[in-house]
Amino acid sequence: MTKVTIIGAGNVGATCANVLAFNKIVSTIVLVDIREGIAEGKAIDILQTAQTLGFETNIIGVTNDYEATCDSDVVVVTSGIPRKPGMTREELIGTNAVIVKDVVTRCLVHSPNTIFVIISNPMDTMTYLTLKCTGLKKNRIIGMGGILDSSRFKYFLKIALKANPSQIDGMVIGGHGDTTMIPLKRFATYNGIPVNKLLPSIILDKVVIDTMNGGATLTKLLGTSAWYAPGASAAYLVESIIKNYKRIIPSCVYLDGEYKQKDICIGVPSIIGRYGVESIIDIKLNVDETELFNNSSETVRNTNNILKNINVF
Ligand code: APR
Repeated sequence: MTKVTIIGAGNVGATCANVLAFNKIVSTIVLVDIREGIAEGKAIDILQTAQTLGFETNIIGVTNDYEATCDSDVVVVTSGIPRKPGMTREELIGTNAVIVKDVVTRCLVHSPNTIFVIISNPMDTMTYLTLKCTGLKKNRIIGMGGILDSSRFKYFLKIALKANPSQIDGMVIGGHGDTTMIPLKRFATYNGIPVNKLLPSIILDKVVIDTMNGGATLTKLLGTSAWYAPGASAAYLVESIIKNYKRIIPSCVYLDGEYKQKDICIGVPSIIGRYGVESIIDIKLNVDETELFNNSSETVRNTNNILKNINVF
């Protein structure tokens, strides 16, 4: 029996629940929301697809009832406000920090051994906040952003290469912000062939820019931030924990000297399994990549410093 709680039954949370159920990844999903009836309604709606789609996952929707979340293997935190057109993820910090601290503290009472997957933005800072306010070991707190940014990177590579999507590989590290993410051109491949051997650098640079603008572009089109790719990315991460797949997933994790950074949560390739972050892969970045990573870390650290001013820990 496996159990996953998702806090926030909005666009991202409900999509994550839908993918987890459809792909038969867990036995029980608990959806929690602060808005009366939302989680209950979404749970029933998804459950009414079970016969059509053929899954047996039980989905329970509750309004602010944390007892229902007891003994969850994983808690996914999406609660908070999403960004609106023209906003950066960082502008959400004040509101979302209070919400994230409250919900993770309440979840921990009922699931003392759980692993947290943090999605609420600004995600790198919310992951750091979760680590600091819970005092949990660093392996149990993972921020979801790198896998989503990598999906967008692969999407734009696929278009530029007119390629078969299943043969494209690529990774985005660094912060999960429009200016802090680092799509690693040097490591991207098309069936093992480095893409910088297949695409002119001007096209590859455009792929990088499109990736970095990927979230903001969708926010402008949709009037709120995206949910299908974030929800599916979260489910992919949860699956690697629940099924102990030990996938390498670019994830926001606590660095204690890796990549020459300390006391920060930021995106790097990590092995994700039953114990959460099982190890960090310290790939050797070249000089340019190191400079980008250091700049990204500094920006994330500046956002983390705002937490001190709003007294959340
Ligand atoms: N407890 C539980 N649920 C809460 C709380 C709380 N304290 N505060 C807000 N919520 C719920 C809202 O009622 C809403 O249903 O969180 C949900 C958020 O859903 P959406 O508004 O649809 O936002 P969504 O698009 O899902 O984004 C969620 O993920 O990608 C990030 O930037 C995004 O921080 C945002 C988060």
